Amino acid sequence: MSTWGRYSDMPGELSIEGLCAAALARRYGTPLFVYSRAAILARLQRLRRCFSRPGTMICYALKANPNRAVCRVLSRAGTGAEVVSGGELARALAAGFAPRRIVFSGVGKTAEELEFGLRQGILTFNVESAEELSALESAARRLRRPAPFSLRLNPDVRARTHPHVTTGRAESKFGVEEGEALSLARRGRSSRWLDFQGLHCHIGSQIRELGPLRRAAAAVARVLTKLQAAGIPFSLVDMGGGIGVSYAAEAELDCNALARTMAREFAHWPRARLLIEPGRYLVADAGLLLTRVLYRKETSRRRFVIVDAAMNDLARPALYGAFHAIVPARPRRGPCRRTDVVGPVCESGDFLARQRLLAPIKQGDVLAVLMAGAYGFAMSSQYNSRPRAAEVLVAGGKARLVRRRETLADIVGPER
Ligand code: LLP
Repeated sequence: MSTWGRYSDMPGELSIEGLCAAALARRYGTPLFVYSRAAILARLQRLRRCFSRPGTMICYALKANPNRAVCRVLSRAGTGAEVVSGGELARALAAGFAPRRIVFSGVGKTAEELEFGLRQGILTFNVESAEELSALESAARRLRRPAPFSLRLNPDVRARTHPHVTTGRAESKFGVEEGEALSLARRGRSSRWLDFQGLHCHIGSQIRELGPLRRAAAAVARVLTKLQAAGIPFSLVDMGGGIGVSYAAEAELDCNALARTMAREFAHWPRARLLIEPGRYLVADAGLLLTRVLYRKETSRRRFVIVDAAMNDLARPALYGAFHAIVPARPRRGPCRRTDVVGPVCESGDFLARQRLLAPIKQGDVLAVLMAGAYGFAMSSQYNSRPRAAEVLVAGGKARLVRRRETLADIVGPER
């Protein structure tokens, strides 16, 4: 069940693994991200049950939530990791992911980042252009260490999701087209410094329909068939992330159906290892953002609740018009009214909810923004010179501060 389902019918106080949300807000201050270890592990277990093909590896996409304590929950549970920068690679290593379980994606890896990955002995680099492949080859030659690489295929598939997070169209900057994938794989075969591993594909995020993912898998299978015909061996098929979740009680993507589709598409190659790179699916529902009501005001047009969390803490509503359910930590009785929940940042785009039907709210109340575990803190900023929020992980009924609240020194410290 999603957090939405778990909390929306709750009559009493909001709690996380039995800990009172309002008490956590008092103890650690607001805005505060709270994550539940049990919720992360429950999602992982669900995914593992679906993707039961032997050899399948779940590589957690750190970009969704790179907090070390969150990553540790997953590394201890035996997942791999997907990283897109040297920073994420360092975080993955610090969180205990074995290098041989780390894949490195991204269209613009620098020479330093390539060398870092090579030195650590990661499983594979997901290469996205011919020039990147040359840079990887040079790095491998410099370090005298052959570089494992997969090619990210751009299957030109439309996924119905927010345009900012679709990545598999021919117009998008990601991946290489089919013909180029074949010629780069050949090039990999002929270089002593390159070690071709297989194909990678990621067509976007928050995908809730099977169709586009099926078409992407079919495109990958087509290229695998051609590789096989050309006598080019491969061992990895990485289908990326993107599994959509439920933010507003809408249906989630059916992971069983997705797993079955992939098993069918790749049935010819039982020895190839299937990788998936979920981010949001594992952590979105496991986190919420607690915020306190500063002020209320009514104009002739609108009713506003001004809270102490803003677009710099949770950018998704402002950036994508994304919906996040908002529930009071301690519900009050009374009629619901249409309300805009806004932050203190000096932009009209700074809102967490617009025209939302909410129960009575008073100054000082604590509200919880649900489904904030993925792309929440990860995308936060210091805009308006606002120190970033604190993060707490609840595990085994205990709360632990896993990132302290920033101070003014954290904001101006690097300036000269
Ligand atoms: N693998 C690759 C290569 C990716 O680019 C991504 C996400 C993932 C895996 C994980 O995707 P997920 O399973 O989380 O959908 N900030 C946006 C989402 C951006 C996703 C970028 N790439 C949002 O808040 O909706």
